[in-house]
Amino acid sequence: RQTDLISPSILSADFARLGEEVDNVLRSGADMVHFDVMDNHYVPNLTIGPLVCEALRKHGVTADIDVHLMVKPVDRIIPDFANAGASYITFHPESSEHVDRSLQLIRSLGCKSGLVFNPATPLDVLDYVMDKVDMILLMSVNPGFGGQQFIPGTLQKLKQARKRIDDSGLDIRLEIDGGVKADNIAEIKAAGADTFVAGSAIFGAANQDDPNHYDSICKAF
Ligand code: DX5
Ligand code: ZN
Repeated sequence: RQTDLISPSILSADFARLGEEVDNVLRSGADMVHFDVMDNHYVPNLTIGPLVCEALRKHGVTADIDVHLMVKPVDRIIPDFANAGASYITFHPESSEHVDRSLQLIRSLGCKSGLVFNPATPLDVLDYVMDKVDMILLMSVNPGFGGQQFIPGTLQKLKQARKRIDDSGLDIRLEIDGGVKADNIAEIKAAGADTFVAGSAIFGAANQDDPNHYDSICKAF
């Protein structure tokens, strides 16, 4: 079992002060940066692209950047994110015509690859590509927005994903995204997750006047 990692979602950060926000959470104990890419097509929202990822690298961020693509199609944008300094690139199987090819493309560019499963998407596609993923990301909300409620049925799905990973003997992270809070993280961890995305729980609760405002939140995880 891999060590637990916390991956704050910058979707809930103050975009006008993004570099500072990212520095603060990393200094407070966050392990990587979750980077939500939305295209107003695959999901009903529009966020940030490779230029912002590159800007974080230029700003001096050395932690892993965990790029969660919610765009369709995916293949065209994958090389741009690899060049922009992405560490992980994950996408939803529904957003690629050729899932195996997209996974290979990510690894061929030197990034770690992953598949993201919406709440109602079965895990079956993993039967054929388990050896081509470095991360499995389960959505515990419908993608598109921060600040939604955790869907409880995801706990059962996490157990199934954990079993698949353990049975495979492969080195694959199991990430959870959506509605993760200090008060439900223990049961999410018990169900098998080892990588925890949290957006509103980390950035939303922040008191912008207090320079240490993230410490207590990151430590609660
Ligand atoms: C939703 C995004 C999430 C989002 C999570 O589509 O993928 O990463 O930022 O936000 P919270 O933690 O507030 O549910
Ligand atoms: Zn996400």
